[in-house]
Amino acid sequence: MKNILILGSGGREHALSWKISQSPKCKKLFIAPGNAGTSNTGTNVNLNILDFEEVQSFVDKEDIHLIVVGPEAPLVEGIYDYFNDHEVHVIGPSKQASQLEGSKAFANDFMKEFNIPTAGYLTITKASIEKGFEFIDQQKDKIVLKADGLAAGKGVLIIDDKTQAKDALRKMLEGQFGQASETVVIEEFLDGIEFSVFVATDGEGYQILPVAKDYKRIGEGDTGLNTGGMGAVSPVPFVSDELMQKVKDQIIEPTIHGLNKRAYTYKGFIFLGLIKVDEDPFVIEYNCRLGDPETEVVIPRIKNDFVDILEAISDKSINNCHVEISEESAATIMLVSGGYPESYEKNKLITGIEAVEDSIVFHAGTKTTETKTLTNGGRVMAITSLEKDFRAAIHKSLRNIKRIQFEKMDFRNDIGFDL
Ligand code: AMP
Ligand code: GLY
Repeated sequence: MKNILILGSGGREHALSWKISQSPKCKKLFIAPGNAGTSNTGTNVNLNILDFEEVQSFVDKEDIHLIVVGPEAPLVEGIYDYFNDHEVHVIGPSKQASQLEGSKAFANDFMKEFNIPTAGYLTITKASIEKGFEFIDQQKDKIVLKADGLAAGKGVLIIDDKTQAKDALRKMLEGQFGQASETVVIEEFLDGIEFSVFVATDGEGYQILPVAKDYKRIGEGDTGLNTGGMGAVSPVPFVSDELMQKVKDQIIEPTIHGLNKRAYTYKGFIFLGLIKVDEDPFVIEYNCRLGDPETEVVIPRIKNDFVDILEAISDKSINNCHVEISEESAATIMLVSGGYPESYEKNKLITGIEAVEDSIVFHAGTKTTETKTLTNGGRVMAITSLEKDFRAAIHKSLRNIKRIQFEKMDFRNDIGFDL
């Protein structure tokens, strides 16, 4: 029996707490800071998850055995290393290995060293801006500019025109995204369709979790601004067994090999943001955590006791932990506050959640008062359904969304449109 602490407050963390709370191996479950949904699966605690001493006092007080880290920031800040000397196990990579997400230049150099297919690229700082201009001139298609560091999902620009791209490069280097863009990676544009693969690893062995596809743009038909994610499906119809074999041989195995070769500790989840170009997979990005809203479709398809998977990650026995995946398809649709991803209002009363039938409501930006559930963020809740195929699952979620209301509620009607 384990006492478990989940860090984070989004739909991903509610999906994790929903699943973990079903395990007979979980004694007490805490979520910091959590949301209105997680408070139904365990106890919310108001901790600053970037203040590791504060987290540690709580861990000591409640005799926590496992910390499951949802978002990337505590990982990139080194929460794994901080707790490495303690009795408690952190699910997530070490600070060094988190650089796969924390620095685009680091990730690209890693992929180059271990022959992992990705876009051609050049890393540029102010001092080498002229080289950047030359590289832009050589591009045949659009130009991809990436702030090297974490930029809250906003640090990637894709530009058609070379003059505009050079201008954008200059602005980025001059601090458009603060320190994150003091270094910029320029990449070749890869033309294809994206999907996400999640791997649970103990650093040596691994298990592949269900494949998913998320929809990042705010507007229908994949138009408008980028968001954290407006919906997702799992599995992904175009991801064939042949394609997955290539992902395994060309990307997952060399990634694990690379981690070993560089002696990086990685006990957590690797999120591979992939793109299929013709029949081949390429890496668009690594993340050092699970995706949101992908987790809201991945977790409901995993049949195992999730604590078994977490324990296998932490005690280095993941190769013996066979992951059983449901044949059903899952789809999720995110309800967002009108205005998101730009400015939006909070504290709107949410009604009708209790009328939802046969879908799972994963809360994201929500909070409770004594009697009410209120909006508390841009992405408010994800409505997940399981069905025989993704279309039926989407229809079920859409039917249930009609029952939920809050002022200025918005969502995408077309999740899965391109499949
Ligand atoms: P990232 O933060 O690296 O995932 O980039 C954000 C989004 O930009 C991705 O989801 C892709 O849609 C797009 N993108 C990033 N890199 C490339 C690339 N080299 N070629 C085409 N699209 C890209
Ligand atoms: N849904 C994309 C992400 O979690 O980064």
